[in-house]
Amino acid sequence: MHSTPSLAPETTIAIVGAGRLGGVLARALRTAGFVVIGPLRRDDRVPDADIALLCVPDAAIPAVAFAVRPHVQLVGHVSGATPLADVDFSIHPLQTFTGREAPVVFRGIGVAVDGRTPEALAVAEELATALGAHPFRVDDDHRAEYHAAASFASNFVLTVLDAAERLAAPVGVHRAHLAPLVRQTVENWTASGAAAALTGPIVRGDEDTVARQRAASAEFTDLFDALAAATRDIAHPGTSSEERRA
Ligand SMILES: NC(=O)c1ccc[n+]([C@@H]2O[C@H](COP(=O)([O-])OP(=O)(O)OC[C@H]3O[C@@H](n4cnc5c(N)ncnc54)[C@H](OP(=O)(O)O)[C@@H]3O)[C@@H](O)[C@H]2O)c1
Repeated sequence: MHSTPSLAPETTIAIVGAGRLGGVLARALRTAGFVVIGPLRRDDRVPDADIALLCVPDAAIPAVAFAVRPHVQLVGHVSGATPLADVDFSIHPLQTFTGREAPVVFRGIGVAVDGRTPEALAVAEELATALGAHPFRVDDDHRAEYHAAASFASNFVLTVLDAAERLAAPVGVHRAHLAPLVRQTVENWTASGAAAALTGPIVRGDEDTVARQRAASAEFTDLFDALAAATRDIAHPGTSSEERRA
């Protein structure tokens, strides 16, 4: 084991957790030239290494960090939501991983980093950079907002797309038909934000059309109402629902 935690090609990194992110991260760090051990499964012996990177569910981090601590110089986790209480640093790739991605998936993405010491933070930044990603700092006080934003940008998008797919399927309109609409919408949002990208009956003021859509979305009424209200806020910022009805 090396006596300092700074990164070098011979730095040994144990990846703990062989789930969706653990396997991809192990491949990518190996491709970046590090000596990677793992991804280690639940009952694997923890070997000595310079760094242990915990790719386990958030709730398992305290116990796994405690178990690996005697074997490594630095312990890090890859969770966006979990504070640094049990680890030295964190590196959270702002991307979604199903486990099948190639190492190139990290190239050009943002990675939230933090460290309990300047040295640990530097290691987190160096790891992100070695993956081809761009590190930015998110500290413990801002993790909850940061991770909620990530969930809106990924998890909840899928919730909405699933509703679209289920409404369209009985009419013979499938995911592949909806996908170009989704891609163009995301492109427009990327270029200029939601207000400029917003089209459709709410921003046009075609309320009869909105009412017909709502009636046709009976299986999703609560979701429709919540999304329609939030969309009205984007279309007409600063006006209350009473003012809009007037
Ligand atoms: N997937 C993503 O898109 C993504 C993106 C950014 C960050 N992350 C972060 O990555 C971390 C893992 O998420 P994930 O999506 O990869 O979860 P996951 O697919 O559920 O994988 C978690 C893995 O940890 C293993 N595990 C649980 N307890 C363990 C223990 N005590 N020792 C060793 N392995 C243990 C699980 O094994 P068992 O199957 O045996 O329980 C499973 O293989 C989380 O902190 C998450 O926030 C994930």
